[in-house]
Amino acid sequence: MINIYSDDEIKKIKESGHITYMCHQHMKEFIKPGVTTKFLDDEAGKFICDNGGVPSCLNYEGFPRNICVSVNDEVVHGIGSDRELKEGDIVTLDICTLYNGYHSDSAWSYPVGKINKEKERLLYHTEKALYTGLKELKAGVPLGNASARIQQYAEKHGLGVVRELVGHGVGHELHEDPDVPNFGKYNTGIILKPGMVIAVEPMLTAGKRYVAVLDDDWTIVTQDGSPAAHYEHTVAIREDGYEILTGE
Ligand code: MF3
Ligand code: CO
Repeated sequence: MINIYSDDEIKKIKESGHITYMCHQHMKEFIKPGVTTKFLDDEAGKFICDNGGVPSCLNYEGFPRNICVSVNDEVVHGIGSDRELKEGDIVTLDICTLYNGYHSDSAWSYPVGKINKEKERLLYHTEKALYTGLKELKAGVPLGNASARIQQYAEKHGLGVVRELVGHGVGHELHEDPDVPNFGKYNTGIILKPGMVIAVEPMLTAGKRYVAVLDDDWTIVTQDGSPAAHYEHTVAIREDGYEILTGE
């Protein structure tokens, strides 16, 4: 079942989304060579709690940490550890907040110091892929149009589109209907309605699109070891477009 949220509820999701957004801004200064991924996790958890929220990832289906911290070939669901970031790495923070009964979800990939051209391209085009998909969203349009756009954009730039993980509805629960794949065909899928709230989250790779799960049963990595990037916003569907709920 796909929830339709009232303007008042969307306002609340946006309050949750604002904490998620501010948490990303807060984390930027800590992303430097030498910092551990556990430190980033702790710092983000503290920020969310200090702002009256609860980290939605913590204990989600047994996930052991506040946020997901994924480095280089790790696509999603990385678990903070004593691993230190080094110059040239890329790191994705996937931050989810529960505030006042509503969840918000936003991931962003960041460079650690100076990164190589391959990673620079990957970050640039994955962020672009997100906005290219978002532009398709408005009431009355099939959701598959956004999925198709993301896939088309990614493949045009030689990037792999991870298919095993998809975006999702978000609001009362962190993961709700509908699924929001990053691949598909135009004129397929559900018809968007005003008040739907979805997380759109392209996960792209610089190599092949295939992924594997590490022994910790959480961390998803690329099979070929190529770097991966992940950009995600929570957005509300409006009559004439979309509204980002995890932005400023
Ligand atoms: N943003 C992530 C997702 O949509 C949230 C994962 S929470 C976790 O899948 F607990 F599963 F890591
Ligand atoms: Co998500």
